[in-house]
Amino acid sequence: PFVKPEDGPLSGRHVLVTAGPTHEPIDPVRYIANRSSGQQGFAIAAAAAQLGAQVTLVAGPVNLPTPPGVDRVDVESAREMQEAVKRALPADVAIMVAAVADWRTKDVATSKLKKRGSAPPVLMLTENPDILATVGATPALKPKLLVGFAAETDKVIEHAQEKRKRKGADWIVANDVSFDARGRSVMGGKSNTVHIVTAQGVEHLPEMPKDMVAMALVERIAHALV
Ligand code: CTP
Ligand code: CA
Repeated sequence: PFVKPEDGPLSGRHVLVTAGPTHEPIDPVRYIANRSSGQQGFAIAAAAAQLGAQVTLVAGPVNLPTPPGVDRVDVESAREMQEAVKRALPADVAIMVAAVADWRTKDVATSKLKKRGSAPPVLMLTENPDILATVGATPALKPKLLVGFAAETDKVIEHAQEKRKRKGADWIVANDVSFDARGRSVMGGKSNTVHIVTAQGVEHLPEMPKDMVAMALVERIAHALV
């Protein structure tokens, strides 16, 4: 059985983690989604609990067990995730790993859209709130250390530095989500190659299993808090 260490480097700290995709409804049976599996975020929540933190994990729709010692709040859409994040704050650290849908449908159909008798529907989209940027721009909400993720397919470090500044994050963990040589995406895969982008510079970590990436990141976070 899991016993949370009382003298771990994150003991007495509240760590908020968002993970997984969001689902944006089209009608009662359909939604817009993305490839996020939630594995990296769940591994980070697990690692923070192992180092003694009180962890709140706000999870989009994923098929993963709750890590030991973690308080989990399940949500579906970006707007629900934002509400859950605001309710879970304040925190000492927030790590926004979720692949939040950038857009939702403007009007959700209350009955199932039917194929026959009409042309294919045109989906009107509207932008979702940016949860990380909202927390980063609101002093009353902002934790001591605010960490975002950035999934990029090109100019990975440049885009991450730009996002770090634009969203008011202290660190951005950048990962390359291009398809690999076999045409597979890291989204849903078991390992990850990340670059930790801070105001001081960039630390490049080698490709590792997602749980090792998680522990490496959480150890650095614990170190940065003291
Ligand atoms: N994020 C968020 N809310 C959103 C979109 C993104 O909190 N509506 C957070 C993610 O959880 C992540 C960071 O912002 O920590 C970067 O997400 P990303 O999708 O890379 O950034 P975007 O600003 O959406 O830019 P892009 O056009 O590259 O998707
Ligand atoms: Ca995005």
